[in-house]
Amino acid sequence: MSEFVVEPGAILAGAVRVPGDKSISHRALMLGAIASGRTGIRGFLEGEDCLATLQAVRRFGVAVDRPGPGEVVIEGAGLHGLRAPGGVLDMGNAGTAMRLFMGLLSAQAFDSELVGDASLMSRPMERVAGPLRAMGGDIATRDGRPPVRIRGGRPLHGIRYDMPVASAQVKSALLLAGLYADGETTVVEPAVTRDHTERMLQAFGVDVVARCGSASLRRPARLEATRIEVPGDFSSAAFFIVAACIGARAPFLIEGVGVNPTRTGLLEMLALMGADLRLFNHRSAGAEPVADIEVRPARLSGIRVPERLVPLAIDELPAFFVAAACAEGETLVTGAAELRVKESDRIAVMARGLESVGVRHEVLPDGLRIEGGPLGGGVVESHGDHRVAMSFAVASLRASAPIVIRDVANVATSFPGFAPLARSAGLRLAERDG
Ligand code: S3P
Repeated sequence: MSEFVVEPGAILAGAVRVPGDKSISHRALMLGAIASGRTGIRGFLEGEDCLATLQAVRRFGVAVDRPGPGEVVIEGAGLHGLRAPGGVLDMGNAGTAMRLFMGLLSAQAFDSELVGDASLMSRPMERVAGPLRAMGGDIATRDGRPPVRIRGGRPLHGIRYDMPVASAQVKSALLLAGLYADGETTVVEPAVTRDHTERMLQAFGVDVVARCGSASLRRPARLEATRIEVPGDFSSAAFFIVAACIGARAPFLIEGVGVNPTRTGLLEMLALMGADLRLFNHRSAGAEPVADIEVRPARLSGIRVPERLVPLAIDELPAFFVAAACAEGETLVTGAAELRVKESDRIAVMARGLESVGVRHEVLPDGLRIEGGPLGGGVVESHGDHRVAMSFAVASLRASAPIVIRDVANVATSFPGFAPLARSAGLRLAERDG
């Protein structure tokens, strides 16, 4: 089991460019696989999660070529061209892969079975299986968790589904199933969630009606292959944004970051704390907005986080907790119960990590109350959660002693190259076999 050892006293400096967006990379592979024609992807995230999706797509008989770093070429099989994979599909740590494939596979002519690593095998899947059954799908879970067994050959019909939780994965799975369903499929969300699926479906020529709070589509005749340029992952940039807020003495730059407004709640949260963040060089990568983000030194003060921002920063909350620990005064996050069913229980695991480095806090059922103050060193168990591991690496910028972060191999699921990139920006981070 590998570990990070991060020494205190570092100063963040310079500029970084983070790898491609995980959510967009998964979707580009899936839609490219069922499109008609050749889809070229640039900036693809070569992390373990997206490689699990790539492997699965190949198992469906789709030709996928990787001509160069970050480049993927898919010979689309068409809406009805996927073939039976012949055996169980392993999604590794990737919740997005499993849940989106559930939607796609419930509409295929063949049966399939999805499994994953220990973390994924303990995550809830009924939130997707339930509404897919209402569409006519035949899906079985084991006590609500994987393995997920899907019987193919079932005709699907569109439904209107009011999601009880704000989840882009649930929304996306239903929209993918809706590509094969009779009538209209409409998903209504209780709070705005990332809209990459809607944007990318439109890029593939599907008429998606996306209003604030809902998305609808009807079965298209086909998806037209296209070119996809994947922006830098905001969720990976988040570690450097927080790092710069707490550990830079001069402006720090993160270049080429996807700034889709359904993803950038962290910027608003940090701005409320007093952070000095500037976006410039706005451009677009296909359907997605991109910008460079500059962080200037500023003092952070504790805030009560508006709950509407939580779904817009759901993957960034571990890093935000570190910012809160370094702010003056108290920060309160509520309305974030979804954190309990991520790659780990991120409320419990982050709280234990904060405890280890001496940060006073209170655990709430749906969030954390954090008192800003000095950080010590200590041993942090990441429980194999990539975002927990990277968050505590960043915390070292304000720690008074080394932090050892255990079980960090899964950083490679979303952010291959994190350790060397962090070192290039000044972090004193060593990797070792623990
Ligand atoms: C994702 C949606 C979010 C997020 C996950 C990626 C996606 O999950 O936490 O990392 O790509 O659709 P939920 O839909 O469970 O909120």
